[in-house]
Amino acid sequence: MLLDILPFAHDLLRQHIQAGDCVLDGTAGNGFDTQFLAECVGKTGKVFAFDIQEVALQNTAQRLAKQHLNDRVELILAGHERLDTFITEPLNAALFNFGYLPQGDKTITTLPETSLIAIKKTLQQLKNNGLLVAVIYHGHETGKHEKDALLSYAATLNCQQYKVAQYTWLNRSNCPPIVLAIEKRFQAA
Ligand SMILES: C[S@@+](CC[C@H](N)C(=O)[O-])C[C@H]1O[C@@H](n2cnc3c(N)ncnc32)[C@H](O)[C@@H]1O
Repeated sequence: MLLDILPFAHDLLRQHIQAGDCVLDGTAGNGFDTQFLAECVGKTGKVFAFDIQEVALQNTAQRLAKQHLNDRVELILAGHERLDTFITEPLNAALFNFGYLPQGDKTITTLPETSLIAIKKTLQQLKNNGLLVAVIYHGHETGKHEKDALLSYAATLNCQQYKVAQYTWLNRSNCPPIVLAIEKRFQAA
């Protein structure tokens, strides 16, 4: 059965992440994805979760506390475009669920320029065979520009070094979200 967009994004990561891995949640939001990643990496793994809104990190912290998962997650109140300031470890995987906080302030959304910087920095920090998954919502104006910026950049990646794929519904109206998946094969010298 074909999976819906977010379950598909999670499924890609679930198949890829192993216990003990170090992974990134670039957009913590209400913490659903952070919880999912924390479960994937197990007790010995680590999740770095970024958001620019305090309320998002509070929601995420509460969700993690209920599941006793706080120990393996570092919550960082900063833009994901600065991820290299906070993370020195190589990453096994990363998830970005772009856009605005559901049930939150819709004027605070991810932006094309900073999302692109974050994707580029994440690719630098990914281990060989590491996987980056991004969910892109392009039903709003900023999201359209973000989609164009991210897909155009991804299409330029060297196919010897990266496998790049996208997944979406072709026969649905209202701009269904897109999953962008990038697997790093090896780091260029
Ligand atoms: C679609 S929501 C994320 C949903 C979330 N992953 C979840 O499971 O609920 C997008 C989030 O990105 C955050 N955001 C916006 N710009 C950001 C940036 N530059 N760096 C990190 N997070 C950002 C927003 O505050 C919002 O909470």
